[in-house]
Amino acid sequence: MAGLKIRKAVIPAAGMGTRFLPATKVMPKEMLPLVDKPLLQYGVEEAVAAGCDEVIIITGRGKVTMEDHFDRAPELEASLERRGKLELLEKVREVTKLARIVATRQSEPLGLGHAVLQAKEIVGDEPFCVILPDDVVHGDEACMKQMVQAFEKVQASILGSEEVEGDAIQNYGCLDCLVDPNDPQLLHVRDMVEKPKPHEAPSQNAIIGRYILTPRIFELIEGLKPGAGGELQLTDAIKALIQFEKVYGFRYKGVRHDAGDKFGFLKATVDFALEREDLGPAFREWLKAKKF
Ligand code: G1P
Repeated sequence: MAGLKIRKAVIPAAGMGTRFLPATKVMPKEMLPLVDKPLLQYGVEEAVAAGCDEVIIITGRGKVTMEDHFDRAPELEASLERRGKLELLEKVREVTKLARIVATRQSEPLGLGHAVLQAKEIVGDEPFCVILPDDVVHGDEACMKQMVQAFEKVQASILGSEEVEGDAIQNYGCLDCLVDPNDPQLLHVRDMVEKPKPHEAPSQNAIIGRYILTPRIFELIEGLKPGAGGELQLTDAIKALIQFEKVYGFRYKGVRHDAGDKFGFLKATVDFALEREDLGPAFREWLKAKKF
């Protein structure tokens, strides 16, 4: 596998988003904005920052606005141009130039493994990355870019990982792993378990929604039986991958928010708003003046 490049990103986005109802009754949760940019766009931009030029969105019924978001909008563009709103026009156009967007559907909610499997033919026989748009990572360097740099060295599957506190591990895939003696960011994965009971968790190292996977994963997903929650779990396929290939965990630098959860979404909004040049200073002052 020497010198392989990551060119394609898969973004699973077929879920129903029930945690955000009623907002997500007709709007995909991936279109909820952090300040003024939808979660999905953050995911696509991260893929592009990591060097990908093709993004495969796994979509579902009633979610076509996700594809439309990355397409040209002639009436809107013409109207912005007429009114001289050139900065906004540029923003609207930039989105359409980010990457080649391919959309394919997951027609049944059979789990994350099944969602990723829908990209099999489009990805083909090359390593690729997976970005779960609910997990937003905020930091100096895009999380997936850091992982691609690690991939360039190890040329093997890599899972984004973070140490979580206490019982929280039951909400994640959990790694049984050893820290590399020469590189504290790199974990040698021996085994893994999806959503373990806290007392059965082999460690506090959670898998977060960032993966670089070799194409063998597809046949392993095809061989899966339903796992945790009765779903075809990506974690179970990666566990099977360890029998054939080396798999690493990677402790990225940055702060992750679970924007698929209301509390996490609020924290992400505050973090991103504070960082904005146009809003940050005033928002910080407003927060400081608030009597909590
Ligand atoms: C999925 C994965 C899990 C991972 C998590 C990261 O779970 O199955 O292994 O730890 O994403 O966010 P979900 O959050 O979809 O239940």
